[in-house]
Amino acid sequence: DGVVKVALLGFGTVGSSVAKVLAGSKFPGIALTHVYNRDVARKRDSAAAKFVPSTAKWTENIDDVLKSDVDVVIELMGGLTPAEGWLRKALSAGKHVVTANKQLIAYRGTSLQRLAAKHGVQLVYGAAVAGGVPVIPGILQGLGGDRVTRLSGIVNGTCNYILSRMETGAEYATVLQDAQQLGYAEANPSADVDGFDARAKLCILSRIALHAELNPDEVATQTISTVEAIDFVYAKELSCTIRQVSRAQVDGTRVHARVAPMLIPLSSPMAWSHGTQNMVVTSGNYGGDVVFSGHGAGGEPTAVAVVSDLLAVSQGAKAVELPVRKRQVTGEFLAPHYLR
Ligand code: HSE
Repeated sequence: DGVVKVALLGFGTVGSSVAKVLAGSKFPGIALTHVYNRDVARKRDSAAAKFVPSTAKWTENIDDVLKSDVDVVIELMGGLTPAEGWLRKALSAGKHVVTANKQLIAYRGTSLQRLAAKHGVQLVYGAAVAGGVPVIPGILQGLGGDRVTRLSGIVNGTCNYILSRMETGAEYATVLQDAQQLGYAEANPSADVDGFDARAKLCILSRIALHAELNPDEVATQTISTVEAIDFVYAKELSCTIRQVSRAQVDGTRVHARVAPMLIPLSSPMAWSHGTQNMVVTSGNYGGDVVFSGHGAGGEPTAVAVVSDLLAVSQGAKAVELPVRKRQVTGEFLAPHYLR
């Protein structure tokens, strides 16, 4: 009947925003037919449930989705298990997959992409890095012709929100709570503040931009939870501020990769990023530097990325498989500025 049937796995901050964006824009030819979540009764009573078409099936049983005739599965649950198994089943059953799952794509993206190719379907994950900022499609579609050798940036909105508010005197614990309430932080905010979320994103960007397959566990990663008010005073004396920065740089057959709170000169655009603003700078041999910037966390910005992926899949845009080489990772990133 020409209608693309879509299932939503996860009706939390991002999932409910995806329903809202779909309801608001009324894309012709796209129908939300299934919503999977635990405790459906509670979700059906939430304010956002009004954005789900009355014809859609709410379910707590994943087989209702996997054994249905949906064309696209949108996964917004996060985490490796059970998401990986379910997405493998979906791809193997010939369903396209749109996901915002950073950890899953960082650890298993290459293998899942192979499975998708084997079954002639697409796996797209534009929302996995930098929320509403089209960094992934920008790199894949706009920079494939360059030879990117370096990328650096701010890819965790929660850390940026915390550090940019601490810069003006707010307390760490208070701002972390605010970030959780605003729906920026991960279910376990350790993933944000201890850098695991950012390093997963750095590995995804390294794969698509540097063509380097990094193991997230091997990326040198430092927490921001030890940053104190006094550090901003010292930073200011050096005409700097502090941000959680993620960087990866090709060095021959190796890649230097690191996630850490770093000193950023106040004159740098990265120092001007406040709140959930993310910023990624790529450096290419031929095209030079390119800057991507915008809201990297929050329901609606992330939903924009998810729905844009859904539209691309629905229009049959073909994913290009990238050559990926294994490279050794080292934490000794030769940054001019970092805290310790
Ligand atoms: N917790 C993540 C962040 C959400 O703060 O950036 C977006 O991936």
